[in-house]
Amino acid sequence: MPETSMEDLPGVGQAIAAKLREAGYSNLMAIAVVSPKTLAEVADIGEGVAAKIIAAAKKEADIGSFETGDVVMERRRGLGKLTTSSKALNDLMGGGFESQAITELFGEYGSGKTQIAHQCAVNVQLAPEDGGLAGETIIIDTENTFRPERIAQMAQGLDIEPEEVLKHIHVARAFNSNHQMLLVEKAKEIAEKKTIKLIIVDSLTSLFRAEYVGRGTLASRQQMINKHMHDLLRFGDIYNAVVLVTNQVSANPDAFFGDPTRPIGGHIVGHTATYRLYLRKSKGGKRIVRLVDSPNLPEAEAVVSITEKGVRD
Ligand code: GTP
Ligand code: MG
Repeated sequence: MPETSMEDLPGVGQAIAAKLREAGYSNLMAIAVVSPKTLAEVADIGEGVAAKIIAAAKKEADIGSFETGDVVMERRRGLGKLTTSSKALNDLMGGGFESQAITELFGEYGSGKTQIAHQCAVNVQLAPEDGGLAGETIIIDTENTFRPERIAQMAQGLDIEPEEVLKHIHVARAFNSNHQMLLVEKAKEIAEKKTIKLIIVDSLTSLFRAEYVGRGTLASRQQMINKHMHDLLRFGDIYNAVVLVTNQVSANPDAFFGDPTRPIGGHIVGHTATYRLYLRKSKGGKRIVRLVDSPNLPEAEAVVSITEKGVRD
């Protein structure tokens, strides 16, 4: 179903839409809950017109409806679980990375975020009986760290043809945060033609962090990240796909008031991600993965190792 845009509302032309967006009303839901008086002021229109726009937005906004628990349960049976080649990590995730949810991997540089993402891009292609989702991968690469050679190694590690695996990974390099967000739209075009079961954004936050600097930019940065994450979640919902995002914790121990383990994007990312995994380096090339936030799983840890073949126990 195509999404209704603001301009589709009666009485909203390009000029009014621009004013609304500028004031932070970037979607129908936001307009649906505002008062006519506020909307009138923001868009420089009469209150009567504003009320009509709000009424239309309420009708068009995809608010959904209530459903009973058993119906929710039934839908959750259709959720996919993407396994990695580490049993410990799968167990930590209650069987694997869940579709229709965002899993955030956060940790300092070299902690293994990109390695786990690469591993998932390979494993998702396996048949369900082998722990995959029989689907293809989309990667939005913001740091130029996608390495086909590494994918090839991991494919060989599972005894599958590297060439075939690489053909089912669709990579785009994002050059700035707006481009990054637009690539989610582009991803939908691919997903209409191919069975996409995994979308990776590596890294979710680096471009935003680089672009929104200085005081006074935080609110708009968070708002954009928030929108981006909701776009991703929607993608996951529509295609029953796993959404995997990476997020670096501040390497500067003085940043964020001395807490070196605080992820970029703070509360917004944390609250929108369904599952959050905190990665840290340990002895002998091992990595400790801690599930720090989950709606249904206990907080716990898994130890994984990064080997030539990929991520293993
Ligand atoms: P940033 O993107 O810099 O924040 O880090 P990251 O968390 O994405 O780290 P990444 O996943 O790129 O981990 C890099 C680390 O993985 C390297 O320092 C190595 O320890 C390990 N690694 C990468 N490739 C190989 C490999 O082929 N063999 C082995 N044994 N380890 C590897
Ligand atoms: Mg990385």
